[in-house]
Amino acid sequence: QFPPLVAPSVLSADFSRMAEEVIAVERGGADWLHLDVMDGHFVPNLSFGAQLVQALRPQTSLVFDVHLMMAPVDPYLEMFAKAGADHIHVHIEAGPHTHRTLQQIRALGVKPGIALCPATPPEAVAEVLDLVDVILVMTVNPGFGGQKFLASQLPKIRTLRRMADETGRDIRIGVDGGVDVETAALATAAGADMLVAGTSVYGQPDYGRAIAALRAAGRR
Ligand code: DX5
Ligand code: ZN
Repeated sequence: QFPPLVAPSVLSADFSRMAEEVIAVERGGADWLHLDVMDGHFVPNLSFGAQLVQALRPQTSLVFDVHLMMAPVDPYLEMFAKAGADHIHVHIEAGPHTHRTLQQIRALGVKPGIALCPATPPEAVAEVLDLVDVILVMTVNPGFGGQKFLASQLPKIRTLRRMADETGRDIRIGVDGGVDVETAALATAAGADMLVAGTSVYGQPDYGRAIAALRAAGRR
């Protein structure tokens, strides 16, 4: 599982030049492209919807890792699948029927991921681990890029790594929020093998260098 995969988040890209920004991280060696969808309800911010995902799809062959910070989310799954999502992450906190939601994502031919906010304990996802390919541990409260990494989440990453390994299935553990070269090392030491990075890629002058630095920092 190592080195970790690096998934730049376009939330920190220049929205007026989105296609170029995506192509630039693909050339820079990104593994996945992280797309943050915010509904102004589940999280206190708006970002973009399936139209942008669809518009970017022909621009790149990067894996589209779509993080839906939405409630309700079920009515929009098909839209994002059709727009070209390869992975769809939904939040365990977004509703009571996450089990069904994850089944629906799988049925759409998309890889399901489950995201956890900082206040949510790892055990909250125990009953859906058989349905997911990725666990996305939020290391900030979702809604905004550029926040500080919450080191309090490291024991949770460790626990989830153990829980994921016990399933005997190949489950990636991603960290999302405040990931930079220092915190990437902490997160991967705790068991993460996928790094979402907004500011620490798009806030740097050389995206390729930034991606390589994160990957190297996360190598164990
Ligand atoms: C936060 C989003 C993140 C965000 C990360 O709600 O889920 O993906 O883009 O941004 P940075 O890396 O700047 O913390
Ligand atoms: Zn995200």
